[in-house]
Amino acid sequence: MAEQQVAEAPAEQQATAAEWRPTLLAYLCNWCSYAGANLAGASRMPYDASIRVIRVPCSGRVDPLMIYKAFERGADGVLVGGCHLGDCHYSEGNYACQGRMALVKALLAAAGIEEKRFRLEWISASEGSIFQAVVNEMSEQLRELGPFELK
Ligand code: FES
Repeated sequence: MAEQQVAEAPAEQQATAAEWRPTLLAYLCNWCSYAGANLAGASRMPYDASIRVIRVPCSGRVDPLMIYKAFERGADGVLVGGCHLGDCHYSEGNYACQGRMALVKALLAAAGIEEKRFRLEWISASEGSIFQAVVNEMSEQLRELGPFELK
């Protein structure tokens, strides 16, 4: 029995580079980007299955530590999506997000983490096609970069 388990394990783990799918973790604000993702889904716009969505009340609630934790726990890339500037349902949450994410970008660069592994995008509820394009483009970039390894 033990020999069977040992013999079966490698076959299950033999994913080729072409089959490897990155994990793109996305923090999406409830009011705009999450609704944009919903629109893309409801409109049957195909987008890469690498995305894993965490809905947040506002992009202003995304803390830099949440980005670090995402990478630490296996994400290959992180996307933060919020309402366009001036459209935040909490008035200035996305401005706060913009400032924090600039800090995140600088910290990631200082740590030697590829710039394309992190992205901040403003996507409204009516921009399902933008959501689709961002997810597909970022997933493709992550495939080119390969798996993320925390050093
Ligand atoms: S509610 Fe969407 S960014 Fe603040």
